[in-house]
Amino acid sequence: MIKHSAQSAFSLGTDDGQLDMEGALTARDRVGIQDFVLLDETTEAAFLTNLKKRFSKDLIYTYVGTLIVSVNPYKELDIYSKKQMDTYMGVNFFELPPHIYALADNAYHTMLTEFNNHFILISGESGAGKTEASKKILQYYAVSCPSTTLLNTVRDKMLMSNPVLEAFGNAKTLKNDNSSRFGKYMDIQFNSEGDAVGGHILNYLLEKSRVVHQNHGERNFHIFYQLVEGGTDDLLRQLGLERGVQHYNYLTQGECAIVSSINDRNDWKTVKNALQVINFDEINTNHLFGIVASVLHLGNIQFDSDSKGHALLNDNTELIYIHFMLFSSQLLGVDVQNLQEGLTFRKIEAKKDQVLTPFTTDHAIYARDALSKAIYGHTFTWLVNRINESMENKVRDPSRKTVIGLLDIYGFEVFYVNSFEQFCINYCNEKLQQLFIQLTLKAEQDEYEAENIEWEPVQFFNNKIICDLVEEKHRGIISILDEECLRPGDATDLTFLERLEDKMGNHPHFVTHKLADKMTRKTLERGDFRLLHYAGEVTYCVVGFLDKNNDLLYRNIKDLMCQSKNAIVKECFSTMDPDSRKRPETVATQFKSSLLKLTEILMAKEAWYIRCLKSNESKQPGQFDEALIRHQVKYLGLMEHLRVRRAGFAYRRKFDVFLKRYKPLCPATWPHWRGEPADGVEVLVQHLGYLPHEYKMGRTKIFIRHPRTLYATEDAYEKCKHELATRLQAKYKGYRAKGEFKKQKEAATKIETCWRGVQARKEKEKRAWAVKVIKKFIKGYMTRGEAKSTDNSEYLAFVRQSYLNRLKEKLPKTVLDKTTWLTPPVVLQETSEILRKLHYRLMVRKYVRGITPQKKAQLQLKATASSIFKGQKDSYPQSVAQPFLDTRISEQEVNMRVLQMIRNEHIKYSVPVIKYDRNGFKPRPRQLILTQTAAYVIEEAKIKQRVLYTSLKGISVSNLTDGIIVFHIACEDPKQKGDLVMQCDHLFEFLTKLSVIIEIQAGKESAVDFTTGQEPMVYKAKNGHLMVVTELPRL
Ligand SMILES: Nc1ncnc2c1ncn2[C@@H]1O[C@H](COP(=O)(O)OP(=O)(O)OP(=O)(O)O)[C@@H](O)[C@H]1O
Ligand SMILES: [Mg+2]
Repeated sequence: MIKHSAQSAFSLGTDDGQLDMEGALTARDRVGIQDFVLLDETTEAAFLTNLKKRFSKDLIYTYVGTLIVSVNPYKELDIYSKKQMDTYMGVNFFELPPHIYALADNAYHTMLTEFNNHFILISGESGAGKTEASKKILQYYAVSCPSTTLLNTVRDKMLMSNPVLEAFGNAKTLKNDNSSRFGKYMDIQFNSEGDAVGGHILNYLLEKSRVVHQNHGERNFHIFYQLVEGGTDDLLRQLGLERGVQHYNYLTQGECAIVSSINDRNDWKTVKNALQVINFDEINTNHLFGIVASVLHLGNIQFDSDSKGHALLNDNTELIYIHFMLFSSQLLGVDVQNLQEGLTFRKIEAKKDQVLTPFTTDHAIYARDALSKAIYGHTFTWLVNRINESMENKVRDPSRKTVIGLLDIYGFEVFYVNSFEQFCINYCNEKLQQLFIQLTLKAEQDEYEAENIEWEPVQFFNNKIICDLVEEKHRGIISILDEECLRPGDATDLTFLERLEDKMGNHPHFVTHKLADKMTRKTLERGDFRLLHYAGEVTYCVVGFLDKNNDLLYRNIKDLMCQSKNAIVKECFSTMDPDSRKRPETVATQFKSSLLKLTEILMAKEAWYIRCLKSNESKQPGQFDEALIRHQVKYLGLMEHLRVRRAGFAYRRKFDVFLKRYKPLCPATWPHWRGEPADGVEVLVQHLGYLPHEYKMGRTKIFIRHPRTLYATEDAYEKCKHELATRLQAKYKGYRAKGEFKKQKEAATKIETCWRGVQARKEKEKRAWAVKVIKKFIKGYMTRGEAKSTDNSEYLAFVRQSYLNRLKEKLPKTVLDKTTWLTPPVVLQETSEILRKLHYRLMVRKYVRGITPQKKAQLQLKATASSIFKGQKDSYPQSVAQPFLDTRISEQEVNMRVLQMIRNEHIKYSVPVIKYDRNGFKPRPRQLILTQTAAYVIEEAKIKQRVLYTSLKGISVSNLTDGIIVFHIACEDPKQKGDLVMQCDHLFEFLTKLSVIIEIQAGKESAVDFTTGQEPMVYKAKNGHLMVVTELPRL
């Protein structure tokens, strides 16, 4: 909610340290007030004091509401930098110190938000700073508007059109060193994004008379001086020109060709460069400069008179004139004879004949000057057209365009001698003042009336009366002038003055010598008339009015120009339609209609005003000529404007427009107000806290008294807009996200459905396939025993593969495992057998490969044992599993002496035995050592018996489980004591070892009896045999 108290108004915009309008009120004594509307009193004195105060601080801009008053500082101020431009971009009008950038920016933003057209009217007298202001505005738009590369070129062209047009259309006058001698209205076109996309210029009445005549202290158009001073030697040679302005009559009349403030050479470069930017090709540029040069040549052509007083080209005495003639014709692209004829003779058409009438010298000079003016004038219009073509919006996009027009037209001017040109210029200023009155003062009052708002009448001078005096049909000065121009007979400037006196006799704004009272008469010549313009009195000298208004060019010269080889000249004159019998419109009438059109153009747009004031006549910085400024303040109607502003309301808008913009500021009006817009506005402003005196409700519009009220509202709106934008954005994002989610969900369902379908189809296919496979399997199974056929081949292959796979997992792990082999199906029985054998062979092979030499020796021993004992002795099977050792008694266990005694024999094997005496078979534990040659029975350190293998007749063992061994020893050895009976726990080992040493074979039975009993026993049986009882195997 916004409250508009005095306090809140003072704090507006001060947060960020900017010097806003209300904030500046406190600094009023120092820098003055930024808006005259806030002055305490609306007197002229207070107005001027404020202006002066500000001017002394180089504050050249001050507001009257939204109008800007600008005072020419005549010095460069640092207020037009890029930084300054940035500061003013998009900022509310009253938030920063007054500046034309603020106005330019506000016009721009209003145009964008309200989609309507605008114009900025820059007015003020000559030298007040209008052209400078218009250039600053154009630069501001060039820098601040968004742009693309394409648009940049349009923008460059717009900027560059200025130096070209100034070169051709500006000149030094007594009032201004760069005075615009033509009127210029430039439309800048913007697209809906705010890009500057094109431009168009309308030009108004160029002061052509300057081409041939300049008053003292004035110059011709800049371009002539620029060419002569800045053109290269080559170019000057081509154009037949000499460097130095003193050589040319048209450049020296004012006797001030060189001006310190103007640098013609530099300006020449700028113009040349600008011509390139606006796409002037070489041919056009050459033709253009050719024309400029031709005008200079024409001006140097002089005439003599012959005996009859007829004009002759002065070619006898001064060859140099021939040079000018030749170059004029050459540059204009016409025949030199024809040109000469055209300048010295007039062609009169009598019935079907053409008669050439010679000119007097004066006439010839007149014809020459008329030609120069016509050429220059037409060329200027041609130039504007070319510039327009180059700035044209070439982007064919159909989006809506809006424009901001910049009107920089010659200012009101009063010279010592004022002629037709000043009359036109001042008339133009009257028209613009009238427009200003209509648009502001009168329109303001009318609107209040129409809206039924109470109005405090403000007295202002309406200059309509002066406009009518000049332009009224049949009765105005222009009509009378035209009549005199067209009237047959010898109409002169003086007869024109008489007609004026007749018709205007008692008009309050018209005086002549004849009509004036005594006092006034003293100030008037007989050939003068005086108009009391809104801006002051101006006395016009009638001399030349008729000629200038007629602006006649002799027909033969016109025809000649139409045949020119210079494309520009030809184009310019051809459009004049030389065959037309109708008189062309007079200059004043043309000017009147062009101003009428301009007024229409401007009336259809929203107006912004810059009122330029000239600070002093001597163009000096820091001089504030109070009298001069007071005068301007008065005639520009600034006081009236101020009074209207203060009496009235600063801002008004149609209810619906206002409501549409600010409705988000009030919950009751947002987002829609369903009732009448006026009621909505009332609710809205109540909500905003407007005080009753701050606004009024009209019939269709709301009127807001102070800008601050509006700007506070606008600020609130800006803030709210951001919040709204965030909310809308969030909503929109949510909406988008929802939509996206829905879409995704639908997509997911769709994908799922499709996927399920695919799965189901796959499943179905799989089942169908499975049924087929199973069927085939069953059939295969049923026919498995039959010969291989299509029905069972796959089954059999499967059976084979399956059997082989299973077999692979369940192969027997050892050679001894004879049971594990998987039972094969019928078809694989044969294969299975082969495989089984292969597998066992493989295992055997593996086993064999894995056997160590020790084991091999062991096995050989075992094999030997087997060959001897297998099936021969009962205890043999149990012994098979017990491995044979190398020996049962290590050498350390054998007595040293024994070892000593048998050291020559290699001990092969030793084993403990029980030796039975031959007598009584008493058991004696002994060591038995086998060497290579003999078996030794050892008792401790004694060799009890040595049995040479050679004396060994045989060895007996029983077929039972006992361990009895009997060595049968040959009796012929005396040393031997008969057979050796022993019992050994390692019988098989012992005997096998022995058998390796000596060969043992199974023999026949001997005198040892073997039997089985409860306990194992060895004793001498009654039959004198050794009885060996072995234990019965336990059940
Ligand atoms: N804002 C400014 N800052 C500095 N100097 C300025 C400014 N405005 C004008 N001047 C000076 O005043 C001179 C005249 O200004 P300008 O040509 O704009 O006047 P004008 O109103 O267009 O006059 P005319 O009606 O003769 O064309 C400029 O050449 C410049 O020296
Ligand atoms: Mg100007």
